[in-house]
Amino acid sequence: RPVRKLLAQDPVGIGRLMALVLARAGREWRAQAAARLPTATGDIREIVGQPVFVPLYNLYLRYGKIFKLSFGPKNFIIISDPGYTRQILQTNADKYSKGILSEILDFVMGQGLIPADGEVWKVRRRAIVPALHKKYVASMVHMFGDCAVHGAEGKLAEAAASGEPVEMENYFSRLALDIIGKAVFNYEFDSLTHDDPVIVAVYTALREAEYRSTAPIPYWNFPPLRWLVPRQRRCQDALKVINETLDGLIAKCKALVEEEGADFGEDFLSERDPSILHFLLASGDEISSKQLRDDLMTLLIAGHETTAAVLTWTMYLLAQHPEAVERIRAEVDAVVGDGLPTVEQLRELRFTTRVINESMRLYPQPPVLIRRALEDDVFDEYTVPAGSDIFISVWNLHRSPQLWPEPNAFNPDRFGPLDGPIPNEITEGFSYLPFGGGRRKCIGDQFALFEAITALAVLMRRYDFALAPGKPEVGMTTGATIHTVAGLWMNVKPRADVPAAPHSNGSVVLPVSPLSSS
Ligand code: HEM
Repeated sequence: RPVRKLLAQDPVGIGRLMALVLARAGREWRAQAAARLPTATGDIREIVGQPVFVPLYNLYLRYGKIFKLSFGPKNFIIISDPGYTRQILQTNADKYSKGILSEILDFVMGQGLIPADGEVWKVRRRAIVPALHKKYVASMVHMFGDCAVHGAEGKLAEAAASGEPVEMENYFSRLALDIIGKAVFNYEFDSLTHDDPVIVAVYTALREAEYRSTAPIPYWNFPPLRWLVPRQRRCQDALKVINETLDGLIAKCKALVEEEGADFGEDFLSERDPSILHFLLASGDEISSKQLRDDLMTLLIAGHETTAAVLTWTMYLLAQHPEAVERIRAEVDAVVGDGLPTVEQLRELRFTTRVINESMRLYPQPPVLIRRALEDDVFDEYTVPAGSDIFISVWNLHRSPQLWPEPNAFNPDRFGPLDGPIPNEITEGFSYLPFGGGRRKCIGDQFALFEAITALAVLMRRYDFALAPGKPEVGMTTGATIHTVAGLWMNVKPRADVPAAPHSNGSVVLPVSPLSSS
């Protein structure tokens, strides 16, 4: 204000000079304020060779809720505070873009919802969110059960008969692929029983996305290398197979929509094809085929890797907590029995849901959210300058000793009574972000929870699982989600003494938690 006043009084002389001096001082002050951010220093070797969120946790314990991390000329700002996280994701969301994430994912998701920013994101979010309406999710639940039983009666039954251990990370990856293929574009991958060129192509693209998010030099940006380096050539070939398959599915779905005429209700749900693709085409969403492919591919990846990882780490936790397995079983036996769970029954599986909530706290997928500041933003005494690349460490928030008692312990009862609300970023004040928060929150949260609960209920009812002896210890490595280093190998046995199926009358007596009673 004083600068403006000076300018008004003396537009060409001393006032202008003063204004320039003050503006420059302001810029310098802001730069210094940013420089005052605690800066993590140390040997880069401390970070290399570990999943990135592990050293970030140690640095958080040392440097606190906001600090700068420098790799040569590149700086990242690491945020591990619920209030700052709310500011970035919700209050000041306009000031942030997806930054490096968009650059990394461009080759496979283009302008899909996850990497898109600005107007494209706004338009596509408005078009896609309605596709995941209540009736759609309810219609998917039957399919979740079908796929889960198909896997249980196929691959797992074979393993139980032969006594051979099963690699469960791979199993869940395939289960989630089968489910998301049907849900997004009504495609029958059936990857639990076979491999075909489309499945191989999808996995090649998925692995490439993860590889690019951790590779130090983006050599694939140089066109000749895209064709000369064998792994890049394989990736280009895979994308061609995927694009052709998607074009075929889009054409088939368009033909079906035309054949059906306008013969569906407001929710555009079709019995012959209840997929998201069908919704988008039937609701008259006018977009280019490239944008539609980007959207479908984004949904396929977003809905596949995450759910598969959640199920993998949930099984790992359950292998160490037999008391939780018993409580899940008591619920599933009482509520569901041998059939396919319905939406109403899934809502009754409250402890099973809490196990998944707690698994997503301990192993958040993804463990880090990426943003870039488009303008300066102020966090208490610190200014984060425009252009900064930011990592919100969900891992740090979820395991913070300041936010959670015994943060590293598995305790599904920590979120309060089972008849309370399902925990999310709002109930936990942005200390818990299993599906992100603010306007870019996950659009598949309900879908994913139902899918994970169904898969777990079907497995726990039918089999006993135990970590397979003699196999490598289960370690973590990171891509977009947390993977195991050498798989999650488990022995599978048919469950002994399965109680008779229930006649659910809604009054389920559940065992008391040993944790809540202590
Ligand atoms: C966004 C987690 C399942 C579609 C997100 C975000 C998180 C997340 C944390 C926010 C990312 C950010 O702010 O940078 C999960 C987890 C899942 C899951 C843990 C499974 C347990 C799904 C499913 C779908 C889906 C099943 C689709 C059917 C999306 C999309 C976005 C998103 C499209 C981007 C939204 C936007 O930017 O507007 N997810 N997700 N997710 N998720 Fe999920």
